[in-house]
Amino acid sequence: MNIHGKRIVLRAIDAQDLPLLHQWANDPELAYGLGDIHFPSSAWQQEQWFQRIQANENTVRLAIHLGDRKMIGYTGFWDIHWRDRRAEHATLIGDRDCRGQGYGREAIAACARYAFEEMDLFRLDATILETNTASLRSYQSCGFQIEGTLRGHALRGGRRVNRLILGLLAEDYATWARETGYWDEASRGG
Ligand SMILES: CC(C)(COP(=O)(O)OP(=O)(O)OC[C@H]1O[C@@H](n2cnc3c(N)ncnc32)[C@H](O)[C@@H]1OP(=O)(O)O)[C@@H](O)C(=O)NCCC(=O)NCCS
Repeated sequence: MNIHGKRIVLRAIDAQDLPLLHQWANDPELAYGLGDIHFPSSAWQQEQWFQRIQANENTVRLAIHLGDRKMIGYTGFWDIHWRDRRAEHATLIGDRDCRGQGYGREAIAACARYAFEEMDLFRLDATILETNTASLRSYQSCGFQIEGTLRGHALRGGRRVNRLILGLLAEDYATWARETGYWDEASRGG
């Protein structure tokens, strides 16, 4: 079952997506904003990654598809704890022409709705480098709250960077959806 946002569709990642995902995996600009260290990745490593995520029941990676046109990024639930009903969430808009147009926020909102209304999760976690303003704003604009700071958690360009811990509870999401009217028919298109 695909997950629908307003302009985007979240669908399963297929083998045919690997070349583009591999390109994004080696884009320094993208890697710089993410939390973990990234080494150059080979096509073989990309294939291995694909095999691993398919076999792992505690991770769900989803392609962000722009209508029926093209894949522009990926998102999903990284580390699902079914007993505690929580998961780690992340989003990447790999297509640079598509950044800053609200698609990241849409992907987060669509995942949050799915997490709380279909998966019955209690909480979503996100961790974001303090310097990644676009990511921070995207998550905060969907109701995520900053819950803590991991000081000097990452090294970027020789400088230590704080990493922020954000969380969204099911009740936060319900309040956000109600107060913003995000899913109301009248607010469609933005
Ligand atoms: C971070 C990312 C997912 C955001 O998605 P996006 O589609 O570009 O962002 P949106 O257009 O949905 O904008 C969401 C918010 O971020 C703000 N924003 C977007 N790009 C920005 C930028 N370059 N600098 C500062 N703020 C920015 C928008 O103004 C908006 O804030 P608002 O709701 O307060 O107006 C996307 O830019 C991306 O993938 N970047 C590279 C990889 C990355 O860093 N991923 C996150 C890992 S945690």
